[in-house]
Amino acid sequence: MRPAVALTCILILVCLSSCAKQDKPITNPWTPHEWSLIQSLSLDNLPALVDPSNRYVGNPQAIQLGSELFFDKRLSANGRVSCASCHQPEKFFSDGLTTAQALGTGTRNTPSILGVAWNQWFFWDGRKDSLWSQALAPIEDPKEHNFARTDLAKLVLTDPNYQQQYQALFGSLPSANEITAWPLDARPSGSIEQIKTWKALSDQERNTIDTTFANLGKSIAAYVSTLQPVETRFDQYVADLKAGKAAKQLNATELAGLRLFIDPKQQCLNCHSGPLFTNQSFHSIGTGEMGKDTGRAAIIDQIRFDRFNCLGKFSDAPKEACTKLQYMQRNRHQLIGTYKTPSLRNGGNTAPYFHNGSKPNLADVLEHYISSKEIQAGRADLKPISLTNDEQAALLAFLQTLNAVKP
Ligand code: HEC
Ligand code: HEC
Repeated sequence: MRPAVALTCILILVCLSSCAKQDKPITNPWTPHEWSLIQSLSLDNLPALVDPSNRYVGNPQAIQLGSELFFDKRLSANGRVSCASCHQPEKFFSDGLTTAQALGTGTRNTPSILGVAWNQWFFWDGRKDSLWSQALAPIEDPKEHNFARTDLAKLVLTDPNYQQQYQALFGSLPSANEITAWPLDARPSGSIEQIKTWKALSDQERNTIDTTFANLGKSIAAYVSTLQPVETRFDQYVADLKAGKAAKQLNATELAGLRLFIDPKQQCLNCHSGPLFTNQSFHSIGTGEMGKDTGRAAIIDQIRFDRFNCLGKFSDAPKEACTKLQYMQRNRHQLIGTYKTPSLRNGGNTAPYFHNGSKPNLADVLEHYISSKEIQAGRADLKPISLTNDEQAALLAFLQTLNAVKP
């Protein structure tokens, strides 16, 4: 018996020492403050999606109809442009161009729309307050789909597939005679002829067409809301560290970049905060162009008087749910040259950058922060930033950890 007891003791001792080694907690390299900042950027913190102005978000039938509309080229003046012409799935729902190109050449860069539904405002200048209202703009834009709301309503309400889906979702349809009588190419803004044709319709006809237009916007938005933000190596790093595991996803350079990113000296976190790396707000970083593109300052009244905003008759929201519209910043002077802080998720895959696509790569973006005359002259919402070459390389390496993890 004695040797056996001794052996057992030895085994227990060996096990105790090695088990203790295995269970030794991984030391988190960050201070509690740094760690809480880092965790706040992780995708885990993405809140539930809410849009009180669109009761069809999450509705499977609306998502189906919206996805078909998103990819349908018939929704354009020349039958060749769909939402997906510019928001291409294989390019992370962007187009890789400097500025958008369809029936005309636009002045703004096409953003990736993965995760866009979590935004508060839509477009670079935030001129739309909901995703469904946003979806209506490119359809009638002469440079994009150039497709009047009357044409859209006629197409959807007469195409057998769409008609059936529309009716299942939104109930009774106008009569076939009524739909046939609607004129083609009538819209409230556009050429004199287009506006005249729109005005010649009765109030009731205009209301029916606008209701159809809004319902289709809500369906498209239901689909766009399913486009989730991407999971990244950065998220995996945070998840492992949180679980007390040895997190090996980021190398030393990338970690140095993360440290710079959260360092108040660089100010990045003042604007690129939260799980989408945006504070959802409007700022000048010295990229506005006087007389050409003044950003949010130019569109403040447009949002307030938009027929399809949160307070309008086509919205599903009670008035009290439209606080962001009611209390939005209206001081035009302070909004000159401001744009919505873009998400940095997947940024490495969605060049070029800025509202006008003026920066071909991320290194040029950093160079802007370092050398912009506007920033140096104090005409922007941040103080001048200085970074050594090594620091720039580290920050760039960190930004690339925010790219989609390849499946
Ligand atoms: C001709 C190319 C083009 C087409 C077609 C197009 N878009 Fe866009 N999209 C853009 C551009 C450019 C912007 C940014 C415009 C701006 O901010 O002024 C944009 C912005 C957006 C945004 C807001 C992104 C953000 O970060 O705020 C959403 C959402 C969107 N588009 C969805 C759609 C949907 C839905 C359709 C179809 C109904 C569509 N787009 C058709 C080019 C296009
Ligand atoms: C004062 C707010 C603010 C600060 C501080 C700030 N940014 Fe930005 N950032 C913006 C805005 C606004 C834009 C869009 C400007 C435009 O489109 O003209 C932007 C654009 C970018 C873009 C391009 C994204 C795209 O899709 O076009 C990158 C990358 C970026 N910032 C990284 C950083 C980094 C890194 C830091 C810290 C060194 C930083 N930003 C600091 C507000 C800010």
